Amino acid sequence: MIEPYYEHNGIIIYNCDCREILPNLPKADLCVTDPPYNAGKDYGAYKDNLSDVDYEKTMREIVGLSMSVADNQFWVAPRYKLHLWFSLLPGSHLIVIRRGAAGPYRGGWSDQFEIALAIGKPCRAEKDLWENIRLKGEGYFFKEESYDHPGYTPIKIMSNAVHLLSVDSIIDPFCGTGTSLVVAKQAGRRAVGVELSEKWCEVAAIRLSQEVLPL
Ligand SMILES: C[S@@+](CC[C@H](N)C(=O)[O-])C[C@H]1O[C@@H](n2cnc3c(N)ncnc32)[C@H](O)[C@@H]1O
Repeated sequence: MIEPYYEHNGIIIYNCDCREILPNLPKADLCVTDPPYNAGKDYGAYKDNLSDVDYEKTMREIVGLSMSVADNQFWVAPRYKLHLWFSLLPGSHLIVIRRGAAGPYRGGWSDQFEIALAIGKPCRAEKDLWENIRLKGEGYFFKEESYDHPGYTPIKIMSNAVHLLSVDSIIDPFCGTGTSLVVAKQAGRRAVGVELSEKWCEVAAIRLSQEVLPL
């Protein structure tokens, strides 16, 4: 049995490959996560550079394991791999996350949004949840501390998902710096996060130990 790296007040972090622990986890309401995109980012222990075939195989396995642990699913996904991700999460709803910055973008049209795929019924209806969200890479406009993590996920994205799709508990198989866990703690949910790199587990544990959460 894998020992938790961190455990306090219903929030647990495991420092391992999520494939090792997912089959042993108790059921949660929601799997909320931002997976690696196979875009060559250096996450430390995890090198984000599999072949396309291995990436699809790995993600298919992890999505399958996550579906066995939680009925509701929320996956931030690479917009340029939408086709693949729809096939990994069949029947999911597409969420378009609109960036907050105005004006033309150096990179063209596609830079103006990100996407997520969701399975499950939102527990309330709310307008404009996915508008005006600042994302890492927006320079001056992105004001959150991202702990030098190359794939940090903005708090608002995780917070929207946790509040809409869970009432009691969440899991995040790729928890990185623990953004989903910090949000879960703030929202009074139990949470399990899994992260391959000890460096990010440590950051997540420090964030969770803070009395006043940086939300
Ligand atoms: C996009 S980042 C998640 C960022 C996180 N949401 C945050 O706000 O910091 C993906 C993370 O998945 C981790 N990872 C990759 N493969 C993994 C695996 N098989 N099991 C657990 N963690 C993994 C990487 O080390 C990386 O930190």
